[in-house]
Parts: sequence; C-alpha cells; structure tokens
Amino acid sequence: MAEENPQSPSSGGPPKPPAPTPAATPAAATPAAAAPAAATAAKPAAKKDDARIAPPQKTYVPRPGLMDQIKDSQIWRSVFRHGYPNTVRNRSLAVLSNVFLHLHPVNVRTSGLRLSFTWCMGGLTFFLFLVEVITGVLLMFYYRPTGEYAYRDIIAMAEHVPMGIMREIHRWSAHAMVITVWLHMFRVFMTGSYKPPREFNWNIGVILLVLTLLLSFTGYLLPWDQLAIWAITVGSNMARATPIAGYEGPLSSLISIDDVNLVHSGDDMRFALLGGRFVGEATLLRFYVLHCIFIPLVATILMAVHFWRIRKDGGISGPL
Ligand code: HEM
Repeated sequence: MAEENPQSPSSGGPPKPPAPTPAATPAAATPAAAAPAAATAAKPAAKKDDARIAPPQKTYVPRPGLMDQIKDSQIWRSVFRHGYPNTVRNRSLAVLSNVFLHLHPVNVRTSGLRLSFTWCMGGLTFFLFLVEVITGVLLMFYYRPTGEYAYRDIIAMAEHVPMGIMREIHRWSAHAMVITVWLHMFRVFMTGSYKPPREFNWNIGVILLVLTLLLSFTGYLLPWDQLAIWAITVGSNMARATPIAGYEGPLSSLISIDDVNLVHSGDDMRFALLGGRFVGEATLLRFYVLHCIFIPLVATILMAVHFWRIRKDGGISGPL
C-alpha cells in the first residue's frame, strides 16, 4: 500500500500551508502532491523528471577581503611578481626579483663565511661607512661651513646631548673605519686574495683605501679649531711636492715657457686643494663639499663595483 501523504486532504491532520515550491519538500516530490501544490502556486508545472533531481546547491562564495583585493590590484601585481614564498619556485622568484635580497650570492664558500678567514673586516668597514653616512647627514643639519659658525656649531653640538652623541659616534666610527680598512687590506694580502682573477678588485680596493684616508683628512678640518687648521696646513704642504702639478714636485719645471715656470705657488696642486695659498674659509668650504658629497659619492660607486666584482670573481676566495 502506498504511504500516506501527510499533506494530502485525506490525511486527516490539520491543514498545512502549501509548500513554497513543489520541489522544496520531500513530500511534495511525490507525483500525487506535486500537481495540486504547483497549481496553488500558479507557477508553470515542473516536469516530472525535474522533481527527482536535487535542487542546485547554492555554494557560498565569500566576498574577497580587503587584503585579497589589494593583492589582486594592478598596482600590487606590478610590484610583486610572485606569490607567497612557500614553494621553491616562489622563494627563488622572491630572491631574484628583490633588489636587496638579490645582492646576496646564490652560493657561498664555507671558507668565506668563516670569521677566521675574512675577519669580517671588509663587512665591518662597509658597516662603519654606513654609520658615517647616517650620522654625517644628521650632523649636516646643525653645522655651517663658514669661518664665523663652524667652530661655534661644533661646540653647540657637543653641548646638545643627542647631537653630541651623534658627533662622537661619527668621530669614533671614522677612526675605526681607518683601522678596519687597513686590517681588511692586510687580510686580503695574507690570504693571497689579490692574485688573479682578483687583481682588478685589489686595485679598486686601493682606491677605496685612499678615499677612506681622504675622508678622514677632509673631515679633520671641519671642527675649525687650532688643531684642525694647523694639521691641514702641515698635511696639505705635501701637495706642493706632487709630480708635475706641485710647484716643488719633480718635473714641474718642465711646464714652463722660456725661463718662466708656469707651475708656481699661486696655481699648483696645493693651491687647488686649499682654494688659496693658506688654509682659509675657501679651504673650509672646499673640504666640506669634498667630505660630504664628492668623496662619499665616488666611494659608494666604487664599493658597488667592489662587491659586484667579488661575485664575478667567484665569491670570496678559498682557503690557501
Ligand atoms: C671602503 C673600503 C672597503 C670596503 C667597504 C671593502 C669591502 C669588502 C668586503 C665586504 C669584502 C668581502 C670579504 C670580506 O669581508 O673580507 C671585500 C673583499 C675584498 N676586498 Fe675589500 N673593501 C674595502 C677596501 C679594500 C682594500 C683597501 C683592498 C685592498 C687594497 C680591498 C681588496 C679586496 C679584495 C681583493 C677582496 C676579495 C677578497 C677575497 O676574495 O677573499 N678592499 N671587500
């Protein structure tokens, strides 16, 4: 006997409201109940087969969150060209497409990592250079390179606690950098790292050493005290002996017309360095520009070449 439909009038139960759709309730799915229910709803009658097919499930699609929307934007995708670095491929892409991570070599010799091999002196020199740049830029906000203000500004900075510390860090790091660059050169020499294919980098290094010493020399004048003025007076006298371009230097007498020597104390190398015959305000401004802009800029470019060259020469040299 067929099962009694609880919704049919003959069931004897209390009348129930019609089902919203014929297919919505299992009871209405029976042929007997489907027809009256469909008629009540005044909807087109569902086909017999459709009634047996399960209604399409509504899948819940969450709206993309703000972060997803940002990550899907053109701006984000123009900067980040890879997904989250949780796969080998994405990790490689993350390293290769980032300028800072890209600076690291793909492979490093174990000997290159050993502190007893490099003494980390090159790395320390570079670190101290960065300290100098940061503290130096901060000092520039408070220092005026004129005869009237230079000394006063230095004294004022020393008395002003945060800037006083900044100045001391700048000064001590400068001394430390001179020491570490020499030790770095010594280590490179002792490990024979100047030999081919690294001889070009050795030469870049020599220029970096000279620039480090020149940074120290030009910075020495900036406090504009007696020590600074007389130290630069003595130090710059050496420029008089520059070959050809110094008026006391070898071969300078060759630059002459008849008996008139064209290289003299008013136009030689020392004069160019000091901006005059003696250390004066012109010297201070010259040394300031050399110290804050010219030498750091050239050193930065050469350091980039130095690091790039280490990579091209096959990384840090191996043990002897
Ligand atoms: C501002 C100065 C300098 C900086 C910042 C610097 C930085 C570095 C760094 C970070 C390294 C990697 C290995 C290490 O840390 O020892 C290196 C390697 C090297 N540097 Fe320098 N350097 C400077 C000056 C010099 C000087 C004065 C010389 C020699 C005249 C020199 C010659 C070399 C050579 C040949 C290598 C390769 C060494 C190897 O493969 O073992 N560098 N430098």
